[in-house]
Amino acid sequence: METQLPSTDNHTVPTIRRTDAAALVEEVSSWLTVDADEIDAKFLGERSRVVEAVGEMNSAAVAGPDRADAHYHQQLLLSRIYQTVMQIPDQPTAEGSVLLHEVTRMLENATLAAEDAHLEPGLLESAPTEPKQFLSWLKQLVRKHRAFKHPYYTDFINREAQREDLRTYVIQESLIDGRFDDFLAMMQIGTAGASKMEIAGNYWDEMGNGDPEAVHTHLFNKIYEVFDVRTEDLEAAMTTTDLHSGNLAVLLCRYRHLYPEAVGFLGMTEWLAPDRFRNVVRAWERLGLPEVGITYHRLHITIDSQHAAGWFHNVVIPSADTAYMRRGIARGALWRANSSARHLDERLDLARPGTDRAAAAERTPVAAG
Ligand SMILES: [Fe+2]
Ligand SMILES: [Fe+2]
Repeated sequence: METQLPSTDNHTVPTIRRTDAAALVEEVSSWLTVDADEIDAKFLGERSRVVEAVGEMNSAAVAGPDRADAHYHQQLLLSRIYQTVMQIPDQPTAEGSVLLHEVTRMLENATLAAEDAHLEPGLLESAPTEPKQFLSWLKQLVRKHRAFKHPYYTDFINREAQREDLRTYVIQESLIDGRFDDFLAMMQIGTAGASKMEIAGNYWDEMGNGDPEAVHTHLFNKIYEVFDVRTEDLEAAMTTTDLHSGNLAVLLCRYRHLYPEAVGFLGMTEWLAPDRFRNVVRAWERLGLPEVGITYHRLHITIDSQHAAGWFHNVVIPSADTAYMRRGIARGALWRANSSARHLDERLDLARPGTDRAAAAERTPVAAG
């Protein structure tokens, strides 16, 4: 499939057209089920065209609401590429392709740069250096953050959500909750001592402490039985920020140099979960939905508070003795809070079309852009 690049007579305005971003996604997606060496032999000669097209899409993705389609396609492509590293395939895949790796790095770097742009300048530099004070500072920042008690959970899910809304909610959560065990498995490589033991204990909880029926991803998938959600329906239901949240988690867990960011990101994910899930349980009970579908959320109200406490004590504090680690942990934690707030803002807008965002803007937190 040929992707025709647009002429660029204005260097400041991204000019890639909507159809170009969609066509680029389809072209690169078509490589994913072809052997890596075959892809490189066939397409390396077209590297400059492909790199230019991805660069154009990345520029358009930060151009604002008018180019929301480019942001969507950017995250859709990254999520499809990540399936090659998150699933055992039953056919050849392009995993390992040099050209695919270059495309992936471009998408990843653009995703991280956009996330950094949401951090308040100077915030990371203002972190205390003593590990316990550093943790208190970080928790305080997130406590004041819009993501901490977001109205999507405290108002919408808690009081208003109907059956169909909860169905949408669990689909939207699948890119994080549906593979949390694999995130832990990926991010623990190279760790040692208290951190490794904490991650191992957390992982064993994910494995239901050895009981296949209690494996967390298995419990999560039980919700899909209640709502008759099929795997093949998931991608089409995903919005840009659904894809973005899932991509960010994979991105931070797969690279060793992003280990500090993964520590911050996953720690905050654990810490934010119990209060959010209390609202999901209330909605479930209010609607009288089948008990089998709420086990996952009920369980995590307790277990994720323990996971968060263990994570802070055994992973964050012992690691936070270098400036490099503190910076990364804070970055990952704030990326989680900021991306989660944007994600929940979008969900609220979709759930309640026409909601006035002025009130929301007033509560915009110190850490968010
Ligand atoms: Fe879990
Ligand atoms: Fe957990």
